[in-house]
Amino acid sequence: MRIDIITLLPRLLDSPFSHSILKRAQDKGLAEVVVHDLREFSTSKQRQLDDYAYGGGAGMVMMIEPIDLCISKLKSERDYDEVIYMTPDGELLNQGMANELSLKGNLILLCGHYKGVDERVREHFITREISIGDYVLSGGELAAAVVADSIIRLLPGVLSDETSALTDSFQDDLVAPPVYTRPAEYKGMEVPEVLLSGHQAKIEEWRYEKSVARTRARRPGMLDE
Ligand code: 6GU
Repeated sequence: MRIDIITLLPRLLDSPFSHSILKRAQDKGLAEVVVHDLREFSTSKQRQLDDYAYGGGAGMVMMIEPIDLCISKLKSERDYDEVIYMTPDGELLNQGMANELSLKGNLILLCGHYKGVDERVREHFITREISIGDYVLSGGELAAAVVADSIIRLLPGVLSDETSALTDSFQDDLVAPPVYTRPAEYKGMEVPEVLLSGHQAKIEEWRYEKSVARTRARRPGMLDE
Protein backbone atom coordinates (compact mmCIF):
# COMPACT_ATOMS: atom_id res chain seq x y z
CA MET A 1 0.00 0.00 0.00
CA ARG A 2 1.12 3.52 -0.74
CA ILE A 3 -0.15 6.59 1.14
CA ASP A 4 0.64 10.06 -0.25
CA ILE A 5 0.09 12.90 2.21
CA ILE A 6 -0.24 16.45 0.86
CA THR A 7 0.51 19.15 3.43
CA LEU A 8 1.66 22.70 4.10
CA LEU A 9 3.76 21.39 7.00
CA PRO A 10 5.69 18.31 5.83
CA ARG A 11 8.09 18.39 8.79
CA LEU A 12 5.16 17.87 11.15
CA LEU A 13 4.83 14.35 9.71
CA ASP A 14 8.51 13.33 10.04
CA SER A 15 8.29 11.82 13.49
CA PRO A 16 5.10 9.71 13.38
CA PHE A 17 6.39 7.64 10.44
CA SER A 18 9.99 7.32 11.68
CA HIS A 19 9.43 5.08 14.68
CA SER A 20 8.23 1.71 15.85
CA ILE A 21 5.54 -0.10 13.86
CA LEU A 22 5.06 2.50 11.13
CA LYS A 23 8.80 2.64 10.48
CA ARG A 24 9.11 -1.15 10.45
CA ALA A 25 6.19 -1.48 8.01
CA GLN A 26 8.00 0.83 5.60
CA ASP A 27 11.39 -0.83 6.11
CA LYS A 28 9.78 -4.18 5.30
CA GLY A 29 8.24 -2.71 2.14
CA LEU A 30 4.69 -3.36 3.35
CA ALA A 31 3.69 0.30 3.25
CA GLU A 32 5.10 3.36 1.58
CA VAL A 33 4.32 6.80 3.00
CA VAL A 34 5.29 9.80 0.85
CA VAL A 35 4.83 13.33 2.17
CA HIS A 36 4.42 16.17 -0.34
CA ASP A 37 5.08 19.83 0.43
CA LEU A 38 2.21 21.77 -1.13
CA ARG A 39 4.42 24.86 -1.34
CA GLU A 40 6.41 23.20 -4.13
CA PHE A 41 3.28 23.35 -6.28
CA SER A 42 2.63 27.05 -5.80
CA THR A 43 2.92 28.97 -9.07
CA SER A 44 3.07 32.50 -7.66
CA LYS A 45 6.29 34.36 -6.96
CA GLN A 46 5.55 34.64 -3.25
CA ARG A 47 4.74 30.91 -3.20
CA GLN A 48 1.27 31.78 -2.00
CA LEU A 49 -1.01 28.89 -1.00
CA ASP A 50 -3.98 30.61 0.58
CA ASP A 51 -6.07 33.70 -0.10
CA TYR A 52 -8.99 35.71 1.29
CA ALA A 53 -12.45 34.16 1.14
CA TYR A 54 -14.80 35.49 -1.53
CA GLY A 55 -17.67 37.21 0.25
CA GLY A 56 -15.42 38.30 3.09
CA GLY A 57 -15.10 37.06 6.64
CA ALA A 58 -12.21 36.01 8.79
CA GLY A 59 -9.82 33.26 7.79
CA MET A 60 -7.85 32.30 4.73
CA VAL A 61 -8.81 29.63 2.21
CA MET A 62 -6.40 27.17 0.58
CA MET A 63 -6.24 27.84 -3.17
CA ILE A 64 -7.28 25.28 -5.76
CA GLU A 65 -4.34 25.47 -8.19
CA PRO A 66 -1.45 24.11 -6.09
CA ILE A 67 -3.70 21.30 -4.85
CA ASP A 68 -4.80 20.50 -8.42
CA LEU A 69 -1.18 20.43 -9.62
CA CYS A 70 -0.07 18.13 -6.83
CA ILE A 71 -3.01 15.70 -7.10
CA SER A 72 -2.84 15.66 -10.92
CA LYS A 73 0.88 14.87 -10.85
CA LEU A 74 0.32 11.96 -8.46
CA LYS A 75 -2.64 10.65 -10.51
CA SER A 76 -0.51 10.75 -13.68
CA GLU A 77 1.98 8.43 -11.99
CA ARG A 78 -0.40 5.75 -10.60
CA ASP A 79 -4.06 5.05 -9.89
CA TYR A 80 -5.54 5.99 -6.54
CA ASP A 81 -8.44 4.26 -4.79
CA GLU A 82 -9.39 7.32 -2.76
CA VAL A 83 -8.43 10.99 -2.54
CA ILE A 84 -9.24 11.80 1.06
CA TYR A 85 -9.64 15.28 2.54
CA MET A 86 -8.89 15.52 6.26
CA THR A 87 -11.50 17.83 7.78
CA PRO A 88 -13.38 18.12 11.09
CA ASP A 89 -16.70 17.93 9.21
CA GLY A 90 -15.79 14.64 7.51
CA GLU A 91 -17.04 11.12 8.19
CA LEU A 92 -15.91 9.99 11.66
CA LEU A 93 -13.01 7.54 11.67
CA ASN A 94 -13.74 4.21 13.34
CA GLN A 95 -12.26 0.71 13.27
CA GLY A 96 -14.57 -0.40 10.48
CA MET A 97 -13.36 2.43 8.26
CA ALA A 98 -9.72 1.62 9.07
CA ASN A 99 -10.35 -2.04 8.17
CA GLU A 100 -11.96 -1.01 4.88
CA LEU A 101 -9.17 1.43 3.94
CA SER A 102 -6.49 -1.17 4.77
CA LEU A 103 -7.79 -3.24 1.82
CA LYS A 104 -7.06 -0.42 -0.68
CA GLY A 105 -3.92 -0.02 -2.77
CA ASN A 106 -3.05 3.68 -3.05
CA LEU A 107 -4.47 6.58 -1.07
CA ILE A 108 -4.00 10.34 -1.10
CA LEU A 109 -4.57 12.24 2.16
CA LEU A 110 -4.96 16.01 1.75
CA CYS A 111 -4.45 17.98 4.97
CA GLY A 112 -6.65 21.05 5.46
CA HIS A 113 -5.62 24.27 7.17
CA TYR A 114 -7.03 27.73 7.92
CA LYS A 115 -10.70 27.89 6.96
CA GLY A 116 -10.21 24.87 4.69
CA VAL A 117 -9.81 24.39 0.95
CA ASP A 118 -11.68 26.06 -1.91
CA GLU A 119 -14.95 24.14 -2.19
CA ARG A 120 -14.17 23.23 -5.82
CA VAL A 121 -11.36 20.99 -4.57
CA ARG A 122 -13.88 19.02 -2.52
CA GLU A 123 -16.35 18.85 -5.39
CA HIS A 124 -13.95 17.77 -8.11
CA PHE A 125 -10.89 16.04 -6.64
CA ILE A 126 -11.94 14.55 -3.32
CA THR A 127 -13.63 11.14 -3.12
CA ARG A 128 -13.98 10.95 0.63
CA GLU A 129 -13.70 13.20 3.72
CA ILE A 130 -12.55 11.97 7.12
CA SER A 131 -12.52 13.49 10.63
CA ILE A 132 -10.89 11.83 13.64
CA GLY A 133 -13.35 13.24 16.19
CA ASP A 134 -15.63 16.09 17.16
CA TYR A 135 -13.02 18.66 18.14
CA VAL A 136 -10.90 21.03 16.05
CA LEU A 137 -7.18 20.57 15.38
CA SER A 138 -4.88 23.26 13.98
CA GLY A 139 -4.54 21.29 10.76
CA GLY A 140 -5.17 17.92 9.19
CA GLU A 141 -1.61 16.60 9.64
CA LEU A 142 -2.01 14.93 13.02
CA ALA A 143 -5.35 13.51 11.87
CA ALA A 144 -3.69 12.15 8.69
CA ALA A 145 -1.02 10.49 10.84
CA VAL A 146 -3.77 8.90 12.95
CA VAL A 147 -5.60 7.61 9.86
CA ALA A 148 -2.38 6.26 8.31
CA ASP A 149 -1.40 4.54 11.58
CA SER A 150 -4.83 2.92 11.97
CA ILE A 151 -4.54 1.54 8.41
CA ILE A 152 -0.89 0.50 8.24
CA ARG A 153 -0.93 -1.59 11.43
CA LEU A 154 -3.67 -3.73 9.83
CA LEU A 155 -1.64 -4.63 6.72
CA PRO A 156 -0.67 -8.31 6.59
CA GLY A 157 2.81 -8.85 8.03
CA VAL A 158 3.05 -5.51 9.86
CA LEU A 159 2.14 -6.83 13.30
CA SER A 160 3.55 -10.02 14.76
CA ASP A 161 1.25 -12.65 16.31
CA GLU A 162 2.06 -11.17 19.69
CA THR A 163 0.74 -7.75 18.75
CA SER A 164 -2.03 -9.10 16.51
CA ALA A 165 -4.68 -6.59 15.57
CA LEU A 166 -7.34 -9.29 15.94
CA THR A 167 -7.42 -8.86 19.72
CA ASP A 168 -7.58 -5.05 19.62
CA SER A 169 -10.38 -3.11 21.25
CA PHE A 170 -13.20 -2.47 18.71
CA GLN A 171 -12.09 -5.26 16.38
CA ASP A 172 -14.89 -7.54 17.65
CA ASP A 173 -17.18 -4.70 18.73
CA LEU A 174 -15.90 -4.91 22.30
CA VAL A 175 -13.19 -2.99 24.12
CA ALA A 176 -10.15 -5.02 25.22
CA PRO A 177 -10.05 -6.77 28.63
CA PRO A 178 -7.61 -5.75 31.41
CA VAL A 179 -4.05 -7.06 31.08
CA TYR A 180 -1.34 -7.74 33.69
CA THR A 181 2.33 -8.67 33.74
CA ARG A 182 4.87 -9.62 36.40
CA PRO A 183 5.09 -9.33 39.36
CA ALA A 184 2.00 -11.32 40.41
CA GLU A 185 1.79 -9.18 43.53
CA TYR A 186 2.96 -5.57 43.84
CA LYS A 187 2.63 -3.68 47.15
CA GLY A 188 -0.37 -5.84 48.00
CA MET A 189 -2.03 -5.38 44.58
CA GLU A 190 -2.69 -8.78 43.09
CA VAL A 191 -3.20 -10.16 39.60
CA PRO A 192 -6.55 -11.99 39.25
CA GLU A 193 -6.09 -15.62 40.21
CA VAL A 194 -7.60 -17.05 37.02
CA LEU A 195 -4.81 -15.51 34.88
CA LEU A 196 -2.21 -17.46 36.90
CA SER A 197 -4.15 -20.74 36.70
CA GLY A 198 -2.91 -21.92 33.32
CA HIS A 199 -6.49 -22.96 32.49
CA GLN A 200 -6.77 -21.44 29.00
CA ALA A 201 -10.52 -21.96 28.51
CA LYS A 202 -11.27 -20.28 31.86
CA ILE A 203 -8.89 -17.44 31.00
CA GLU A 204 -10.63 -16.82 27.65
CA GLU A 205 -14.03 -16.85 29.37
CA TRP A 206 -12.80 -14.39 32.01
CA ARG A 207 -11.40 -12.08 29.31
CA TYR A 208 -14.63 -12.19 27.33
CA GLU A 209 -16.71 -11.39 30.41
CA LYS A 210 -14.41 -8.49 31.33
CA SER A 211 -14.60 -7.16 27.76
CA VAL A 212 -18.39 -7.23 27.78
CA ALA A 213 -18.60 -5.61 31.24
CA ARG A 214 -16.10 -2.93 30.26
CA THR A 215 -17.89 -2.24 27.00
CA ARG A 216 -21.24 -1.94 28.84
CA ALA A 217 -19.70 0.49 31.36
CA ARG A 218 -17.69 2.63 28.91
CA ARG A 219 -19.19 2.26 25.45
CA PRO A 220 -22.80 1.09 25.84
CA GLY A 221 -23.49 2.30 22.30
CA MET A 222 -21.20 -0.38 20.89
CA LEU A 223 -23.39 -3.16 22.36
CA ASP A 224 -26.59 -1.59 20.96
CA GLU A 225 -25.07 -1.58 17.49
CL1 6GU B 1 -9.24 15.72 9.91
N1 6GU B 1 -8.76 18.16 10.78
C1 6GU B 1 -8.83 19.14 11.69
N2 6GU B 1 -8.30 20.33 11.40
N3 6GU B 1 -9.42 18.99 12.86
C2 6GU B 1 -9.93 17.80 13.13
C3 6GU B 1 -9.90 16.74 12.23
C4 6GU B 1 -9.30 16.96 11.03
N4 6GU B 1 -10.53 15.68 12.78
C5 6GU B 1 -10.92 16.09 13.98
N5 6GU B 1 -10.57 17.36 14.20
